[in-house]
Amino acid sequence: MENALNLLFFDWITDLQTLSNAEFERWRTNADVLEKDGHGDKVLRFADGTFFKLFRRKSLFSKTLLFPPAKRFADNAEVLRKLGIACPDIIAVYRLINPPRNAVHYHPLQGTTLRDLLNRDVSLGQIELFAKLATFITELHDKGVYFRSLHLGNIVQTPSGQLGLIDISDLRCLGKPLPNSMRKRNYQHLLRYEQDWALVSPLVRSQFKP
Ligand SMILES: Nc1ncnc2c1ncn2[C@@H]1O[C@H](COP(=O)(O)OP(=O)(O)O)[C@@H](O)[C@H]1O
Ligand SMILES: [Mg+2]
Repeated sequence: MENALNLLFFDWITDLQTLSNAEFERWRTNADVLEKDGHGDKVLRFADGTFFKLFRRKSLFSKTLLFPPAKRFADNAEVLRKLGIACPDIIAVYRLINPPRNAVHYHPLQGTTLRDLLNRDVSLGQIELFAKLATFITELHDKGVYFRSLHLGNIVQTPSGQLGLIDISDLRCLGKPLPNSMRKRNYQHLLRYEQDWALVSPLVRSQFKP
């Protein structure tokens, strides 16, 4: 209860609009649950095809106190759009009372995640795709974007073949090209996901692995 009150207080001072329980319940009707964990639903797809992503604050003293992840998600979408990097199209940011969450409502970026492509598309041209990925990551870094959640499940290939980012609450924009040390560290994030890399041919892997 105390947690809930604090959450509400900090969401309130960060000026999020409240979504009433009645409205949320109405939206949830016929929604698909795309992601959930032990605490409840994390990502919903509403009947109209829009996405609704819910965040709970993990600890009372978290550094995200004054910067709810839903708001960061929306702010980052604006930054990326200005930089010409494809990402979800934000509709609104909310605070929910019960359960206590902050949430972002958006149009998903059309396309398929690289993880899904790797898992589902047996005729996938890995060499071309990963060359495109390397070019894309260099573009992000040159534009000053440090995407902490860099992995194949958070990168989407759009129907036009362009790459873009989803799941963008943990991202920093330096406003200048990233130094080499940060580029390297960011590649380490990508390389951590062994399940993904197990699906990648040795030739392609050797180009990415240090
Ligand atoms: N084009 C897309 N745009 C947004 N989300 C997508 C897209 N395609 C698939 N998804 C799925 O939406 C869900 C939410 O993704 P994400 O925002 O990365 O949440 P998380 O990684 O926190 O579960 C995941 O299941 C993801 O695979
Ligand atoms: Mg994700």
